[in-house]
Amino acid sequence: MNLGKKVIYQIYPKSFYDSNGDGVGDIRGIIEKIPYIAKLNIDYIWFNPFFVSPQYDNGYDIADYYKIDPKFGTMDDFEELAAKLKEHNIGIMLDMVFNHCSTEHEWFKKALAGDPKYKAYFYLRDPKEDCSLPTNWQSKFGGPAWEKFGDTGKYYLHLYAKQQADLDWHNPDVRQEAANVVNFWREHGVSGFRFDVLNVIGKDKVLVDSTDPNQEKMLYTDTPVVHQYIKELNENSFGQDADSITVGEMSSTTIENSIRYSNPAEHELSMIFSFHHLKVDYDHGEKWSMVPFDFKKLKEIMFEWQTGMDQGNGWQALFWNNHDQPWALNRFGDPVKYRNKSAEMLATTIHLMRGTPYIYMGEELGMVDPSYQSMDQYVDVEAINAYNELIKTHSKEEAFKIVHSKARDNSRTPMHWDGSEYAGFSQVKPWLLPTDQEQINVEKEFASGEIFNYYQKLIKLRKSEDLISDGHFEPLFADDHQVFAYLRKLNGETLVVINNFYGDPCEVSVPSELQKSGNVLISNYARELSELPAKLKLQPYESLAFKL
Ligand code: GLC
Repeated sequence: MNLGKKVIYQIYPKSFYDSNGDGVGDIRGIIEKIPYIAKLNIDYIWFNPFFVSPQYDNGYDIADYYKIDPKFGTMDDFEELAAKLKEHNIGIMLDMVFNHCSTEHEWFKKALAGDPKYKAYFYLRDPKEDCSLPTNWQSKFGGPAWEKFGDTGKYYLHLYAKQQADLDWHNPDVRQEAANVVNFWREHGVSGFRFDVLNVIGKDKVLVDSTDPNQEKMLYTDTPVVHQYIKELNENSFGQDADSITVGEMSSTTIENSIRYSNPAEHELSMIFSFHHLKVDYDHGEKWSMVPFDFKKLKEIMFEWQTGMDQGNGWQALFWNNHDQPWALNRFGDPVKYRNKSAEMLATTIHLMRGTPYIYMGEELGMVDPSYQSMDQYVDVEAINAYNELIKTHSKEEAFKIVHSKARDNSRTPMHWDGSEYAGFSQVKPWLLPTDQEQINVEKEFASGEIFNYYQKLIKLRKSEDLISDGHFEPLFADDHQVFAYLRKLNGETLVVINNFYGDPCEVSVPSELQKSGNVLISNYARELSELPAKLKLQPYESLAFKL
């Protein structure tokens, strides 16, 4: 499979389309909207988890990996979805959450009841001699990473919410359970898998205190054993399908490890998600802060990853948005004055890079963060915990502003199908409210918009131009403070990609070796050019791809 020719669309099922009027999106709703999705000509859909779950972390706390949660539908609905997508040559990518399971999973319940087989599935530890927690680790959602294991006197580890108990991958039975789940879904015709927070499954057997909170992640991230466990999972499950496609969500990873995770010779995964480029608007690494994004750093990170992964034959997922991120348009573009142009510029920047692009539902409309006015409009456990922490050191107004700009709920609001009260998503009040649907919605985009159409063009280009799918990557204008540019090269051909990342016009000096005749592959200003000039003037948020 040529991964460079594939484009993946991400659907957050809870927020895509509600077919049965309960305020929550569902599988039948997705089936109804297949004709819409098919217009983009994408190859796979990654679905966030719709398995049985008490939903403390919106489905990332799975209580039964083999069943569809009745809120989302039935197994019959799933099979119909798969069959209908297949008619459009669209494959399914399921979200496999194996670092942890719900504390309502029967494994955890049996463990609590004292069954030794299942106690060995989890990280159960005694408190320290002074009765303090087993280690000083923090949960990624705030607060300590340990919770009382019933009245046993022990504690269980949870790197995420306390309803998500970490599974102990050192136990071969746990690894077999993971392979069994993947194989079950393979038998249901699924060939795509996204593995949630996969690079933290290799915690040590003996857990020790961190000495520096900033280095704590190093204690359990990208440990050598992670590679071994992925290889084993590959061999025992998806690796048996020639056409499988897999992506590992890798938090705080390195290029070196990512090459190993994704170089085909290693037999681990098809590709990885890394997040360094989405931390350039964190103040000293702190997500819950508000600072303008650091453009220089963004370029450095992306250039380093593109060239590093290219040299090591690794493969990257290319993305700005997902269900854990506020909208990129609000962070890096101008959602008010240049919504169309900046959305297209952001799309061009990553769609012409080396890797497999992911489009998060609504991105193709230029959706933006909701204009919520108060904390009670947010539902995410992470946002609520963060707010409660922030008000210890900030005023309530400041704390709210920060949550407003960073909450994961920002991108989890219902898809805007039309401008009506509930955005055409549902007949009743949705689980999370949409805002600004009068300005941004599918109906309006089809009638008078330009972003959807631009995405269609980008996807088409990737499929027709080997330079885009297979070309090597080289940075261009590395020191420029306003322009994000690069070259793609293959078999003597060169693609020049130039993006003005800001709302002010600017000019670049084109190196003489690129001042050659060629043709425009895509331009968000309908520019016509037969040769790159020595001085190229760029409009606000202008993108241009020129093939020599
Ligand atoms: C991943 C998911 C996120 C979830 C977390 C814990 O980061 O994308 O939504 O909360 O893992 O499973």
